[in-house]
Amino acid sequence: MAKPKIALIGGGQIGSTMATLAALRELGDVVLYDIVPDLPQGKTLDLAQAGPVENFDIRLTGSNRLEDIAGAAIVVVTAGVPRRPGMSREDLVETNARIMAAVAAGIRQHAPEAVVIVLSNPLDAMVTLCQRLTGFPAHRVMGMAGVLDSARFATFIAWELGVSVRDVKAMVLGGHGDTMVPIVRFANVNGIPVLDLLTRKYGDEGRAREVMTQLVARTQNAGGEVVDLLRTGSAFVSPAASALAMVEAVLHDQKRLLPVCCLLEGQFGVQGYYVGVPCVLGAGGVEQIVEFDLTDEERQLFHHSVAEVKKLVDSLPRL
Ligand code: NAI
Ligand code: 2OP
Repeated sequence: MAKPKIALIGGGQIGSTMATLAALRELGDVVLYDIVPDLPQGKTLDLAQAGPVENFDIRLTGSNRLEDIAGAAIVVVTAGVPRRPGMSREDLVETNARIMAAVAAGIRQHAPEAVVIVLSNPLDAMVTLCQRLTGFPAHRVMGMAGVLDSARFATFIAWELGVSVRDVKAMVLGGHGDTMVPIVRFANVNGIPVLDLLTRKYGDEGRAREVMTQLVARTQNAGGEVVDLLRTGSAFVSPAASALAMVEAVLHDQKRLLPVCCLLEGQFGVQGYYVGVPCVLGAGGVEQIVEFDLTDEERQLFHHSVAEVKKLVDSLPRL
């Protein structure tokens, strides 16, 4: 049986890690595209030669020709440049927007039926642009951030409580920036609220709330924490794994409920902006946006985050 084709646009740290994880799981045939001559070819050649050892057998193609994404069921975009010293956020928006314009035109032309997942930063603005420029229905264009931000929150909770990360459930909504909103009241360990467990651990609810505030702050700064340590780039293994969970949900029609950056049309009181909220992901892409009642505090934090997303989107150049 033919395997689905997964096109990875951007063959840098995240793109090549996604290719590796997709190969290990035999999720589909992979095309790794980058503008740097020979880079994706070299990376896929190396990866292919791990097949006999790791026992995977998929078609791996490295390419500098966007037409090679033709027929892709799913396209993941990580193309872009990172922020360098002296570069403002607006400079980054301008540069990556131009890259996204070229990439979106290629997707529209060569993979018109694909589901598209964007990772390039600034995420909320880049996914907005990708949807506008491909002209694809919004349910087929989404951004990855919430799966990663939630995984980070869950990791910090597990470490704090000394329990397995497997048993921690946590959800982060809003934009992919400092104002993201970890939903504290939903964080649980196999159904037991984390705040209750922290209160038992410290014997005092006030102290439990202080510790939770620290976990939330670390989550909001988790991307920056990795950048400060790596110095030459940003996190790539956890973003790649997070994006691949979304790819798998779509390819295998899993109906997973995940936090996804998707276009809101009135849900959560937001009109016409891409923001992270819970969605059901399946073969059709974003098949459902799952609303729930926010508390007053959560609503205030969420709308503060949405205001930051709006500023970012409003700073996009006209293309
Ligand atoms: P990287 O710099 O290793 O890879 C980016 C690749 O894009 C490079 O190989 C570059 O040659 C390529 N590229 C540039 N222009 C291109 C074009 N026009 N067409 C095709 N490829 C092009 O960066 P990395 O670490 O892979 O990160 C990729 C993006 O993902 C960055 O924007 C980063 O900030 C973002 N990111 C997003 C996260 C999220 O949660 N959404 C998490 C972590 C990173
Ligand atoms: C991250 O969250 C920098 O967006 C990137 O790791």
